[in-house]
Amino acid sequence: MSDRKILVTSALPYANGPIHLGHLVEYIQTDIWVRFQKQRGNLCYYVCADDTHGTPIMLRADREGITPEQLIAQVGKEHLADFTEFSVAFDNYHSTHSEENKALSSLVYERLRDAGHISSRTITQAFDPVKNMFLSDRFIKGECPKCGAADQYGDGCEVCGTTYAPTELKNAVSAISGAKPVDKDSVHYFFDLANFSDMLREWTHAGHLQPEVSNKLAEWLDGGLQQWDISRDAPYFGFEIPDAPGKYFYVWLDAPIGYMASFKNLCDKQGLDFNEFWSKNSDAELYHFIGKDIIYFHALFWPAMLSGAHFRTPSAIFAHGFLTVNGEKMSKSRGTFIKARTYLDHLNPEYLRYYFAAKLSAGVDDLDLNFDDFSQRVNSDLVGKVVNIASRCSGFIAKRFDNRLSEQCSEQALFHEFVTANTQIAELYEAREFGKAMREIMALADKANQYIDEKKPWLIAKEEGKDQELHEVCTMGLNLFRLLAVYLKPVIPVLAGNAESFLNIEAQAWPVDAKPLLNHAINEFKPLMTRVEADKIAAIIEASKENLEKTAEPVKAKKFEPIADTIEFDDFAKLDLRIARIIKADHVEGADKLLQLTVDIGDETRNIFAGIKSAYSPEDLEGKLTLVIANLAPRKMRFGLSEGMVLAAGPGGKDIWVLSPDEGAEPGMRVK
Ligand code: MSP
Ligand code: ZN
Repeated sequence: MSDRKILVTSALPYANGPIHLGHLVEYIQTDIWVRFQKQRGNLCYYVCADDTHGTPIMLRADREGITPEQLIAQVGKEHLADFTEFSVAFDNYHSTHSEENKALSSLVYERLRDAGHISSRTITQAFDPVKNMFLSDRFIKGECPKCGAADQYGDGCEVCGTTYAPTELKNAVSAISGAKPVDKDSVHYFFDLANFSDMLREWTHAGHLQPEVSNKLAEWLDGGLQQWDISRDAPYFGFEIPDAPGKYFYVWLDAPIGYMASFKNLCDKQGLDFNEFWSKNSDAELYHFIGKDIIYFHALFWPAMLSGAHFRTPSAIFAHGFLTVNGEKMSKSRGTFIKARTYLDHLNPEYLRYYFAAKLSAGVDDLDLNFDDFSQRVNSDLVGKVVNIASRCSGFIAKRFDNRLSEQCSEQALFHEFVTANTQIAELYEAREFGKAMREIMALADKANQYIDEKKPWLIAKEEGKDQELHEVCTMGLNLFRLLAVYLKPVIPVLAGNAESFLNIEAQAWPVDAKPLLNHAINEFKPLMTRVEADKIAAIIEASKENLEKTAEPVKAKKFEPIADTIEFDDFAKLDLRIARIIKADHVEGADKLLQLTVDIGDETRNIFAGIKSAYSPEDLEGKLTLVIANLAPRKMRFGLSEGMVLAAGPGGKDIWVLSPDEGAEPGMRVK
């Protein structure tokens, strides 16, 4: 039917975590487009793989006491099982930790090197002296230099949003061992991206990118292209660089090459010609679906790498926005960071496929999963409009006509209108305007329901001599349903497949010139989809909250301020700490934090103002034994002279605890 040859990819999910609903925006979007292309009769391959290399995977394997290979094998299985249940139908799902990828990464690197696009130089980097490894910004933690927030990463503060260099962090520590990082030199390899400035300037404006994306890239190009550091030192889970022992390819170097590697693996299994798709003069189309966070890698590094290594460049890169849930960033504490598996435990995956389709466009806007809207759309569109037509008509065909469609239909105008709509719907699918395509299809579903409402088969059925009319109306209803099912098939393939079984027909191609099914035996009707149940959604959110408690953070955030600088014993000996008894405690006029204490420290009594009013009332304190610094220089305060300090711990407010010695200690004893 067509001579288009198309290779499609989705970004390779990291093997260090499970698939979640955010990921699925991408894989479902790509799968819909691929299914559409195949249904149109195009030759189309959809390949993907797990992105397996890098420090986080190495460290996680370490923590779990397994090898990285074992870890990625396990995660790879889970990812593929999730995708399969969501009907994301890859032609091949591979791994970046594969022979094909190793060979292709080396090949690309060597070609770039031989053409003079690789250079090396020594750089200084933070190094963990306990773990014996270099630390990327993500693995250094400390206090934000701007707002002082504790436990912030080396590249920026999540509290105040400031970005900075890891060297600016206060009290920086390795997030892996907790050790203080030291500076260390090492030779790194760089890809000279600037050599491709002209090529990229042209390529990014040649129709390969969405307009908002090429504008963004123009900004980046104007800012000047930096050398890209493509090497990492051992220990690293990845591929060793061919001519540089002990140096490994940075994960982002071999990840996109993983697209080629997965396709190569498919070629070897099915006898396809790799070069037909990847050689410089290939006439095949190549599309990468990606999230907006990884545009830089795909629209700058990747075309430059391909071009420098004498391969073809992508026909287009399709970037999409990010998923929010109920209007906010997915959050583990709110239970909206939902794993694919958690969803699958409770709800039909086709609900989500349809909902995403209904909300997707060709742009890079973020997309919100609002659970009320989700239930309402699925229930009203799929259950209320589409499936409803089949159930309204199939009963009569079964009871009155022995499950056989009528021999003729005198009124076919609506059927032809439905067929004619195929052009418009196809254009919308092709342009990735899935939301608009769903609206077109639902407008047709409304028309089909109106037709049934007007004909009122439930009334005709009661009238004498109107069998033929009843038969034709229901036959037409089912024919309209069949067209709705074929139009929705890229989105809800399982429902569409069940509709085909019910109608007793072969898998439907795109209906360019469909004729009505007449005089045809159909099968017994079984409910095709049930309504979304609200308690299932609540259960998903509940289960997602639980997930959080079970996930242990790799490195415990530090709860307390760091231990102060080391002192000598003599420094300690300067402190004169005494056991004291509080003999009197009073409120202080005009002070909302202070209590005035009179304390007995043995041979004398002292007057002390203590900031503990938020946690203690005077009655709690009178008669109590405590500790006091007795040789602290007296301080003149607004309310009088404070002659010492009572020792207490805690962050403040209600959480202040005054220290006290065990029973038996006497006022005046020195603490040593
Ligand atoms: N491993 C890299 C991609 C390498 S491609 C050569 C990566 N992996 S990822 O697991 O973090 O993300 C995989 C894809 O899912 C990316 O395209 C990313 O943008 C997308 N998404 C991840 N979270 C998402 C949302 N919350 N919403 C929409 N897409 C999201 O990046
Ligand atoms: Zn900050």
